[in-house]
Amino acid sequence: MRYIVVLLLIVLMIQCRQKESPSDPDSGIYQPTPYILQVPQGFPQPYISSDNPLTNEGVDLGKRLYSDAILSSNGLSCSSCHNRGKSFSSPYYITLTGDKISIPPHLNLAFNPDYNWNGSVTKLETLPMGDFEPQFFNTNADTLFYRLSHHPLYPQLFYKAFGITNFYTLSYEELKMTICKALVQYIRTLISADSKLDRYQLKGGALTQEERDGMDVFFSERGDCFHCHGYPLFTDNLYHNNGLDDQFTGQNAGRNLITHAASDMGMFSTPTLRNIELTAPYMHDGRFNTLEEVVEFYNSGVKFSRTIDPIMTKPGKESGLQLTAYEKASLVAFLKTLTDTSFISAK
Ligand code: HEC
Ligand code: HEC
Repeated sequence: MRYIVVLLLIVLMIQCRQKESPSDPDSGIYQPTPYILQVPQGFPQPYISSDNPLTNEGVDLGKRLYSDAILSSNGLSCSSCHNRGKSFSSPYYITLTGDKISIPPHLNLAFNPDYNWNGSVTKLETLPMGDFEPQFFNTNADTLFYRLSHHPLYPQLFYKAFGITNFYTLSYEELKMTICKALVQYIRTLISADSKLDRYQLKGGALTQEERDGMDVFFSERGDCFHCHGYPLFTDNLYHNNGLDDQFTGQNAGRNLITHAASDMGMFSTPTLRNIELTAPYMHDGRFNTLEEVVEFYNSGVKFSRTIDPIMTKPGKESGLQLTAYEKASLVAFLKTLTDTSFISAK
């Protein structure tokens, strides 16, 4: 008899628990679960917006929305341009004014203080707002509200993540901002720290002789790459003019277009080199198709101008780096050790 009572109690407790399960619209409880971001060894603390903490439910929603054309009127989704197999990137985008822009990967963005090639965005949540515009998703507000409300899953998922019970209580701006919050939560979880180089540095993995020679060029004064592309992020998260041009028109003005400071002319945010093998073409305007071309640029193509970074003009560099053919090849081999295959194949 005692056992039966205990059993009954347990059954009752489980039933109560189920009723109170987090974020059940019927019970009126909205309680998302905090998502613990795993920061890899040696990485800095991530930037997380205080008004958009990561939750399991928010990340799940963002992941689904990221590759769902429900947000657009033309079949496009974020993943059309930010394709996982290419480290959440794809070759390039041509703007309405005819400028070519290399599409940046989504990788370790949680550790970036600002975004886009010229740093035009400082709050990540605001960035995807532009994607609803005619030149990208060409989203129709009424259609978006209708589709989300009538979807078999989204009403429940938005409730779980953000406590939204009825899409129509939101303005179009509020709906878009909520979508952006979810997308950004997901993007912040895209962390790459398992390249061949990481396994060599931290887990006793091996590099070939050529890759190690390239590493020496990269991390020594010989190539001088590490000043701006240092370990572990392979970006210093600062702006530099690395000597691509000596005349600056249109988007090549870079950071100057945002700050209008003469001292920012031709400056760009240092891109990470992680997964660089997957994200051709290179530089903000995709002017180089291969890593060999990039290395040759640093070796012999740097152009001098008023804002060029002092590292590019150090004494001894007047005639370029003067790398040997073997040093150039080894540098390219080293750059390819930054490819993280588990990152692009993760589910
Ligand atoms: C038509 C192609 C295209 C689509 C679709 C697209 N993007 Fe992008 N994305 C770009 C380009 C091009 C840039 C670089 C813009 C710049 O630097 O001026 C970019 C930059 C970004 C960045 C900044 C990356 C960095 O390293 O600073 C984020 C974040 C981003 N996109 C998120 C999204 C999200 C989320 C979506 C879906 C809502 C999306 N993008 C859809 C082309 C696209
Ligand atoms: C003074 C800082 C600085 C130094 C030193 C430097 N870079 Fe860069 N690197 C940048 C900046 C800034 C960009 C982006 C420039 C642009 O797009 O206009 C860049 C772009 C790149 C790119 C293209 C990335 C992409 O996503 O398209 C590669 C590859 C690269 N650098 C490799 C190297 C190598 C190899 C070296 C050493 C030989 C090196 N860099 C030295 C600042 C630097």
